[in-house]
Amino acid sequence: EETKSWKKLVNIAVSGAAGMISNHLLFKIASGEVFGPNQPVALKLLGSERSIQALEGVAMELEDSLFPLLREVSIGINPYEVFQDAEWALLIGAKPRGPGMERADLLDINGQIFAEQGKALNASASPNVKVIVVGNPCNTNALICMKNAPNIPAKNFHALTRLDENRAKCQLALKAGVFYDQVSNMTIWGNHSTTQVPDFLNARIKGLPVKEVIKDHKWLEEEFTEKVQKRGGVLIKKWGRSSAASTAVSIVDAIRSLITPTPKGDWFSSGVYTNGNPYGIVEDIVFSMPCRSKGDGDYELVKDVIFDDYLLKRIKKSEAELLAEKRCVAHLTGEGIGFCD
Ligand code: LMR
Repeated sequence: EETKSWKKLVNIAVSGAAGMISNHLLFKIASGEVFGPNQPVALKLLGSERSIQALEGVAMELEDSLFPLLREVSIGINPYEVFQDAEWALLIGAKPRGPGMERADLLDINGQIFAEQGKALNASASPNVKVIVVGNPCNTNALICMKNAPNIPAKNFHALTRLDENRAKCQLALKAGVFYDQVSNMTIWGNHSTTQVPDFLNARIKGLPVKEVIKDHKWLEEEFTEKVQKRGGVLIKKWGRSSAASTAVSIVDAIRSLITPTPKGDWFSSGVYTNGNPYGIVEDIVFSMPCRSKGDGDYELVKDVIFDDYLLKRIKKSEAELLAEKRCVAHLTGEGIGFCD
């Protein structure tokens, strides 16, 4: 019989825990597929007054699954309590956008939530908590959360752009007629919005630059880029709600990328704080950039990437959008009066 040496229990807080994304994610975490087969987990689930009944149901299902690694399930509606000693905070809960809305339409509605949750993390969570913001507009929500949590290192905050990276890899693989695992070095630059830039200049297929494999550069600049940028919106039209299963998968990917060493020569995308970035991107915003990790929960930015005019122009556009979002929520970051364009 296999003898296991259990690691120390890890506390994982999840907001929006009664929602669709969480319903996929929580069972993956509890099963061990995220943090590994020797890692016992405690799930601390945050809901709202409106969702508390549903949250009780989720907790019941988790308990009834008899996951050997799931040692504790707690639920609550007070973030100061639920975030107590959290080492990971997966912030999913927010009002999702419906058909016809842009993610920025949610700035006002959701910003407040992330300001409060930042304060709660600052007060209650483990001082080195890793925070992944999923609720939209996720880059600016991550910035708001970070600004309200001055005791937590700024580099611990992530906005989820892994779903966009996965979408981009899938489209490149389909076009090139290869399996998706042959696509590497895929950066999403910028905002998790329609200005995001899926970088086909630095990405590789079977180790070769994408542009050498896919000769139709017009397709890359137009169809491919737009397809990735608008994938979330198209999905909302089809489902009548935003993506849930693939989002949960991409959260798993994002966590695993931080707790396992990045394969040699490759990288992953995450929306992270821009201070000190080597690309000349404006400081003090949360911007998706290429990252590598030693597997210790931290990351460093990849230095050896190249730029051309097309890429720089697109990056500037996403940067401008994020600066506008930031001005709009200044009252929530403690930087004055919010002014939306
Ligand atoms: C997505 O990309 O599918 C999600 O961010 C939901 C959305 O608003 O598009």
